[in-house]
Amino acid sequence: MIALGIDTSCDDTGVGLVRGGRVVANKVASQTLLHQRFGGVVPELASREHTQVIDGLLEQALAEAGVRLRDVELVAATRGPGLIGALLVGYTYAKGLALALGKPFVAVHHLEGHLYAALADHPEALPPFLALIASGGHSHLFRVAAWGRYELLGATMDDAAGEAFDKVARLLGLGYPGGPEVEKLAAQGDPQAVPFGMPLQGQGPGQYAFSFSGLKTAALRAVEKGLDKADIAASFQRVAVEHLASVVLRAARDTGLQTLLVTGGVAQNRALRERLEQAGLRLLFPPRGMATDNGAMIALAAWRRWSGQGDPLSLPAAAYLPLA
Ligand code: KG4
Ligand code: ZN
Repeated sequence: MIALGIDTSCDDTGVGLVRGGRVVANKVASQTLLHQRFGGVVPELASREHTQVIDGLLEQALAEAGVRLRDVELVAATRGPGLIGALLVGYTYAKGLALALGKPFVAVHHLEGHLYAALADHPEALPPFLALIASGGHSHLFRVAAWGRYELLGATMDDAAGEAFDKVARLLGLGYPGGPEVEKLAAQGDPQAVPFGMPLQGQGPGQYAFSFSGLKTAALRAVEKGLDKADIAASFQRVAVEHLASVVLRAARDTGLQTLLVTGGVAQNRALRERLEQAGLRLLFPPRGMATDNGAMIALAAWRRWSGQGDPLSLPAAAYLPLA
């Protein structure tokens, strides 16, 4: 089966194709430069840009895969969560294509897309597993009991992990997105130089929650004191990674689950990977280009979940859409 997937949930336009469960095209148009000068994503500009580039991206994706549009058998798009205007561009585009081609339309949850991205290179992996989704908008820990059965174990109480990297990058005068920039600068610093406190571990129902805002404020104080920027970056990264790892590893111990899927932009962080590798769990990461937002992950999720029945074209997009 050839599945087309579209994601326009935030500031990246993603169009991807999956053939027989294998990713054969994954084109992403980043809007980083467009939003950079505003210091954050401007929703109306994001929607307009998606509209401008989506046709061209589809053509590029088809050319890359060597697939004709009429051979696409299923059209999938992100239904939510995300910026509603941005979501609607890709979502209604996909509906229109499905209608014109006479093919089924499949609405995909953005986080489910991230989850399946980590399985792109591991088609044999089977639930149950733990899944950490750490991106610019999300820090969620799920227990995946079975395909489509998700239990939310914990989420962030304030900033998402990637958002914390982005904010600290801005404090340090680095570019956006901040994660890769902080990681690069951290390589030149001493991770023990600044004694940032570890965020408190939750108790009871909130025991797998994350919190990054205290760490971000501590980084601000360190910048105000004029401490070395590379040391701040390295020390921030050490604590952020240790916080993510300690919550996740505690959940692995408590649940007895030995397989951990790590996905979302922060999954690209090498320090996080190395820290988790030490723990001896079976780790599943997305391949290159599939950790951050993209269309191939949406096609993959739709293909994996395909039951022979598409979604009605009347199903609306949703800015707020919990997975579990
Ligand atoms: O998954 P994604 O494209 O966005 C959302 O769906 O939100 O992830 C982007 C986020 C940004 O916050 C970015 O700074 C972060 O992922 N990120 C990283 C790294 N690469 C991207 N954070 C830490 N280390 C990295 N190497
Ligand atoms: Zn995302």
